Amino acid sequence: MNPQITSFQQYQEVYNQSVNDPEGFWAEVAQNFQWRKPWKKTLEWDFATANTKWFVGGKMNITENALDRHLATRGDQAAIIWESNDPEEESITLTYKMLHQKVCQFANVLKKHGAKKGDRICIYMPMIPELAIAVLACARIGAIHSVVFGGFSAQSIADRINDAQCNIVITSDGSFRGNKEIALKSTVDDALIQCPSVQKVIVSTRTRTPVSMLKGRDVWWENEVKTVSSDCPAEEMDSEDMLFILYTSGSTGKPKGVVHTCGGYMVYATYTFANVFQYQPEQIHFCTADIGWITGHSYIVYGPLCHGATTLMFEGIPTYPDAGRFWDVIDKHKVDILYTAPTAIRSLMSFGNQFLENKDLSSLKTLGSVGEPINEEAWNWYNENIGKGKCPIVDTWWQTETGGMMISPIAGITPTKPGYATLPLPGVQLMLVDEQGNEILGNGVSGNLCIKFPWPGIIRTTYGDHERCIQTYFSTYKNLYFTGDGCLRDEDGYYRITGRVDDVINVSGHRIGTAEVENAINMHLGVIESAVVGYPHDIKGQGIYAYVICDKDLEDKDLARKDILASVTRVIGPIAKPDKIQFVSGLPKTRSGKIMRRILRKVAEGETSNIGDTSTLLDPSVVEEIIGGAL
Ligand code: PRX
Repeated sequence: MNPQITSFQQYQEVYNQSVNDPEGFWAEVAQNFQWRKPWKKTLEWDFATANTKWFVGGKMNITENALDRHLATRGDQAAIIWESNDPEEESITLTYKMLHQKVCQFANVLKKHGAKKGDRICIYMPMIPELAIAVLACARIGAIHSVVFGGFSAQSIADRINDAQCNIVITSDGSFRGNKEIALKSTVDDALIQCPSVQKVIVSTRTRTPVSMLKGRDVWWENEVKTVSSDCPAEEMDSEDMLFILYTSGSTGKPKGVVHTCGGYMVYATYTFANVFQYQPEQIHFCTADIGWITGHSYIVYGPLCHGATTLMFEGIPTYPDAGRFWDVIDKHKVDILYTAPTAIRSLMSFGNQFLENKDLSSLKTLGSVGEPINEEAWNWYNENIGKGKCPIVDTWWQTETGGMMISPIAGITPTKPGYATLPLPGVQLMLVDEQGNEILGNGVSGNLCIKFPWPGIIRTTYGDHERCIQTYFSTYKNLYFTGDGCLRDEDGYYRITGRVDDVINVSGHRIGTAEVENAINMHLGVIESAVVGYPHDIKGQGIYAYVICDKDLEDKDLARKDILASVTRVIGPIAKPDKIQFVSGLPKTRSGKIMRRILRKVAEGETSNIGDTSTLLDPSVVEEIIGGAL
């Protein structure tokens, strides 16, 4: 991968080059890939209309880069190593040759059922090899995948399918997570009652959970692959054709379908993978995310495979059968790179170090962190106990919308500091601004984090609603992409992300919109109104705190609490369940009816005295009541 960064001085040079001549820089990087036709223009952009095009006119297919081009050189090398939820079950290794064959085969199954370039296909699956195969098979034929995390509810699946008008769903009978068996197909069935666009459901077998198969609509993966050839030429894609949609929560309304396109995303995910982790041939890369999130898309599937790496896919959870499972997986497969979330680190840390005993972690070279700010204690524990003080930690800041890592150390090259994502990667031009959008210059400052120049992995649109993309990301500050994060730049020019500045909560590294949770709570009979805020949580980073106004007649508050949790689980999924529910008789509102969340946040954080100015409130007495009943 050119330019391969090998020293800090070189990083600085490359960074400067990428700012002085972004097009030249990215054109050089893009030469490392296989294009069917070269691009005519490297970049076209206009932030005012949220239009960015990279490698304009270039033709390619990302699976030719992820699979075909490796066949001659590393066809027998492991592409995917799969580790089951059950430590007793044998792991599976798919070489590049095998993966190529399986992807082509399944791509032919999709074609047989009428899938074609541009169709949207929803994937709702456990972390089994078939998930990666399904994703790549869509890309092979130019269909746009929309992977929905296996923990989302039927309603969430239906919303996403309808928004994208998907015509095919790929799922499994069920999934194993720890000691739980979760029915996936039946959840899909519930969703599909509301989804007339879906013509076909392809079901892979994992748990043997009984499922109902609808004649004419539902087919078994295993049967279908038997009937097709394993030869499937890749569809020629334009660099700017859509590759996938991935839904993510924002501060308002329903989740948005973030759109990434083929060329720029491929170049960006792969370049950042190779450089940040300093991946060396034959190394085993273990990213613990689920492919249902962007981290899994970019750093389990596309980045590693386009780079010809070996990627480890783990079906289970860090605490099953016990809190030593990650360490067992690392020991068993001699993992070189571990990429995980601070929540997992904090959770494992809380079990004490006995789960590390007799685990050989000496294969580890690099540790990564992603998804949320990492506190110093967790950073130090990770460094001392997992990296044994010898593995660089890359704290990588990025978003679904950025496609790949944006601010991060380069492993072993950028000097690190606990809690800091450190410096922007090549091609990333940051700017801190104040509320009015004025640039905040100098060091030892903080502000809202913006990006002033496009990078190849930038969001292209929000599916079906380009205006929303403009409004959400490019309108807060003129000619800037606004991240929604607060950030400080210290005396050394190092960046530290301080958290969201909008109404998005980051729970265990998952983005949850407060408005979405409020809508789900309000759907419950007996709830009049609610307001949701985040509060610091020792393990999850942030927890969800809901203030709820109920009907006067509601007698049994404990039951109401359980009912509300059930409603949220049904409407969104268990990940959005409030950790705390406080029943209140009113919410602090201004005379114009706006809820003063600042006050609710303070109370949720445990603050009882320094609540700030309440004089603009319609009824300041509600604040006393809220403080009095704080949980
Ligand atoms: O607030 C930031 C936080 O996660 C948000 C993006 O969430 P999502 O799109 O789900 O992507 C997560 C995985 C890339 C950001 O706006 N975030 C992500 N990484 C970090 C982080 N906060 C602090 N430090 C990080 N390393």
